[in-house]
Parts: sequence; structure tokens; C-alpha cells
Amino acid sequence: MKRWIFLLAVSFLYGEDSFITQYEYGQMLYNNPRGIGCIHCHGPHGEGARIATYKEDDKVIELRGPDIRQISITTLRKSLVKRHRVMPTYFLTDAEIQAIYYFLRSPQEME
Ligand code: HEC
Repeated sequence: MKRWIFLLAVSFLYGEDSFITQYEYGQMLYNNPRGIGCIHCHGPHGEGARIATYKEDDKVIELRGPDIRQISITTLRKSLVKRHRVMPTYFLTDAEIQAIYYFLRSPQEME
């Protein structure tokens, strides 16, 4: 019994801070994925963001990173290794991709 109380106390003291959660790991990679952070073009939570605006024939054109909160893990895997027009190619492990996916799929209120 004493031992349980001790373990409980220890997990209260250290449990929350000493390990980063899958969400935090995913967020960390999303912000800093060994390359340009996804955050710059897809917003803080994957909701999409404006990358740039420019003028073409007197029309203002907005370049945006799409909303990627609903994408499947298959789409995510494919688009990271693909050559895009705007988005760079990334070299992430599958565990890293899964963490990013977890982060994107988690409700925003988790912050
Ligand atoms: C320089 C801006 C930029 C960065 C950085 C970037 N993206 Fe993108 N991403 C885009 C744009 C723009 C598109 C739309 C396709 C295109 O034109 O390249 C896109 C497309 C995607 C798609 C495909 C969406 C779909 O519906 O098919 C996914 C998934 C994605 N990005 C995830 C990421 C992740 C994860 C990261 C970080 C590891 C990242 N992107 C970094 C700009 C960016």
C-alpha cells in the first residue's frame, strides 16, 4: 500500500513534465522538421496559412498552404517525399511522420 502511494506521488511529481507526449513530439517536429517548419505554410495547427501575395497583371494573387488537418496518413507520407511546386521535400522517419499526423489530428484545444 505504501509503495503505491509512493509511486502515485512520484508520477504526480514527474509524470507530467519528464516525458513529452506524442502530441508535443508531433508539434515539435511540425514546427521544426529538419527543414523549413510546416508551421510557416500550413499555420500553427495545420489549418492553412498565407505564404505570400503578389501581383500578376494587376490582380493580387495569394499563395496559400492548404488546410492539412483532415488529410490521411497516406497522403501525408506521399506529400512529404514528393517534389512539389512550392513545398519542400522532407526526410522524416515513419515514427516522425506518425507523430506529425497525431498532432494534426488532435483537437486544437490541447495546447
Ligand atoms: C514553403 C511552404 C510549405 C512548407 C514549409 C510545407 N508545406 Fe506542405 N504544402 C505547401 C503547399 C503550397 C501545398 C500545396 C501543394 C503545392 O503546391 O506544393 C502543400 C501541400 C501539403 C500537403 C498535401 C495536402 C493535400 O491535400 O494533398 C500535405 C499533407 C502537406 N503539405 C504537409 C506538410 C508538412 C507536414 C510539412 C512540414 C513537414 C509541410 N507541408 C511543409 C506548402 C508548404
